[in-house]
Amino acid sequence: MPVLEAKNITKIYGDNRGTMQVKALDKFSISIEEGEFVGVMGPSGSGKTTLLNILATIDTPSTGELLISEINPAKLREKEVAFFRRKQLGFIFQDFNLLDSLSIEENIILPLVLDKVGVKEIEKRVQDIAEVLNIKDILLKRPYEVSGGQQQRAACARALIHNPSIILADEPTGNLDSKASQDVMEALRNLNEQKKATIMMVTHDPFTASFCQRIVMIKDGKYFLEIVNGGKRQVFFKEIIDSLSLIGGRTTDNYSIQGGNIGGNYNDLK
Ligand SMILES: Nc1ncnc2c1ncn2[C@@H]1O[C@H](COP(=O)(O)OP(=O)(O)O)[C@@H](O)[C@H]1O
Ligand SMILES: [Mg+2]
Repeated sequence: MPVLEAKNITKIYGDNRGTMQVKALDKFSISIEEGEFVGVMGPSGSGKTTLLNILATIDTPSTGELLISEINPAKLREKEVAFFRRKQLGFIFQDFNLLDSLSIEENIILPLVLDKVGVKEIEKRVQDIAEVLNIKDILLKRPYEVSGGQQQRAACARALIHNPSIILADEPTGNLDSKASQDVMEALRNLNEQKKATIMMVTHDPFTASFCQRIVMIKDGKYFLEIVNGGKRQVFFKEIIDSLSLIGGRTTDNYSIQGGNIGGNYNDLK
């Protein structure tokens, strides 16, 4: 059984009188197996945020079915949905979302404290995950005392510490320079490979996307095509660029292949 299965998801925004309706997702399907690291890319307005909101159970589809760990969140009561989300899902946001009043360690363990996990178990898990993400030295600092890349790696730790079924990441490198982006993506890859984390990430950045095992492209709310990483990231990166030019439209919100993130990292691809 896949960890996540979305079947023929359609999402229509608009008033119920039928005027001004927007079909943001149109019979979109995606299936993610345990241990996969999947990217979702598509032009601006193609439905990526809508999809993420539905998978995150903060919005509901108009039609279609979603199963996460064989549970359909639409069939749960409101209180149960909040619990389901806290247990089954981990989130990584573009702007890190760490609390400045807590240390990095306290931020990471917050989901466990809320779940009343024992102190020894918490300590064990935090040391283990901090090692994988290379943030052991900053655990006692406050978020504002460390770099953006370190903050995002702490957010990655927080997303996995309660062993969710799947991590949903929304433009995790959107606020980072190229070096920090690389560090964060290597950290996510380590979580995927060493901790068997299942990850679905939305990004517009081909460099960031090149760390995924497979990428699903979406256009006008519909499945467009899928590409699979054959193992060489440089090759995969080029395939991503080619697919984005094939998909057309305003593919990205704010990057150019010559500048910024891409130029800085292109030579580092390995
Ligand atoms: N709350 C909303 N109400 C009405 N239309 C929306 C709403 N959110 C998104 N849309 C529309 O749905 C389509 C998909 O949007 P979105 O999911 O944000 O795309 P993306 O994240 O790929 O840029 C767009 O046409 C957008 O204008
Ligand atoms: Mg969006």
